[in-house]
Amino acid sequence: MSTKTGEGFSSSFGAIMAAAGSAVGLGNIWRFPYICGKYGGGAFLLVYICFVFLIGMILMMSEFVIGRRTGEDPMKAYPLLRPHRPQWKYVGFLGLVTCFLILAIYLVISGWTLNYFWESLTGTLASIPDNGFKEHFESFASSTFRPVIFVIAFLVFTTLVIIGGVEKGIERVSKLLMPFLVVLLLVMCVRSLTLDGASTGLAYLFQPDFSKLTGEGVLAALGQALFSLSVGMGVMIVYGSYLPVDDNILKTSVWITICDFAIAILSGIAIFPAVFACGQNPSEGPGLVYQVLPVVFNSFGNIGRIFSIVFFLLLSLAALTSAISLLEALTQWLSGEKIKRTPSAIIMSLMVIALAIAASFSYGDGILSGMKIGGMQLFALLDKLTGTLLPPICALLTIIFFGWFMKKEDIMDELSNHGTLGIGYFKVFYYFLSRFVAPAALLIVLLAGILG
Ligand code: PHE
Repeated sequence: MSTKTGEGFSSSFGAIMAAAGSAVGLGNIWRFPYICGKYGGGAFLLVYICFVFLIGMILMMSEFVIGRRTGEDPMKAYPLLRPHRPQWKYVGFLGLVTCFLILAIYLVISGWTLNYFWESLTGTLASIPDNGFKEHFESFASSTFRPVIFVIAFLVFTTLVIIGGVEKGIERVSKLLMPFLVVLLLVMCVRSLTLDGASTGLAYLFQPDFSKLTGEGVLAALGQALFSLSVGMGVMIVYGSYLPVDDNILKTSVWITICDFAIAILSGIAIFPAVFACGQNPSEGPGLVYQVLPVVFNSFGNIGRIFSIVFFLLLSLAALTSAISLLEALTQWLSGEKIKRTPSAIIMSLMVIALAIAASFSYGDGILSGMKIGGMQLFALLDKLTGTLLPPICALLTIIFFGWFMKKEDIMDELSNHGTLGIGYFKVFYYFLSRFVAPAALLIVLLAGILG
């Protein structure tokens, strides 16, 4: 079947770069290192690896199959594969709502990142004393106008790429940015590892401490695995619908998963040794990147300023290719015969920016910080919903559909399309994982996390 818009990626390499661009983002560079440290380093890593390869990667393959088989957006894809059960479209809908919420909070954090990139360039960060970064961040993030300006700027870049199209926009930008990003990250790793005292940081990241790995930590590992691979909410169904017909879905998914995992680990290696070498405390949670790292950069003197520019550029670009995939999912859903791609992208951007601005206003002591929903500020609520709760729920429904409601012949046919030589046994193993292991594991961790 061809895609509903007739658009698609031109090659497997382009598809891998675009999907890896979606997967690699703030989740890898900003979120992974600090939750890995928080929940027991190597102990967390072990659980995380299992979730990434046994659940996350399986979901990615399944979403690609659903997407390419139908060539449709998530809301139409499910009913198309199961015509007598149109209710499945609500799973697609829940995924799209999740994308919308993720994009809103993602834009706020990307806006902060862009501001820090700007302040590195202009020298503002270099002029702040070491003990001033906490206050600098809090007062910036809670202020009314400045964060919003950067959020809007970031969204404008994102929307322009979407308007450019799947091949000429998304694929082209990803092919350019992803290799660049890896080079920047490697440079940062080399610098960090050659500092005196780097080994303490590596121990923090890798030495297992099982006492810190709580039930909450296990759910966090699952949420992180899904969030980081961009699976569960239908983004990979959308990218799957753009995959070339001769692309080997199993191989492509393995590559993307390895790439995403490697970049998370490299980010930890780039960050922690430097943090410890400068005598900083890593347990700053989300503030790690905005409050601790600037101190680390300043301690390097002039060269630190270059590293600060490089780091915040890296983070902004990684966030950009992820935001692109989220906006693409929403745009693809809205666009059709009546509404073309460009107006769809603009309408979706305007809707999401409203929520992003409200979330930004609710942060810290912002002007909407007094507004509570379920006892939480909007920003905190979005963070909780999108970080730990919604992705596992959407993922569970998706994998149940795939393993139990989709026709086995359809799946096997999609996987046997072309060039699957030598992959026969894996195909069967994968089907087994998607039917039994992944849903059971998702259900258990989800229940344990919610009830515990
Ligand atoms: N995977 C992205 C990251 O790690 C975030 C993302 C989640 C993007 C869901 C698309 C869909 O930052």
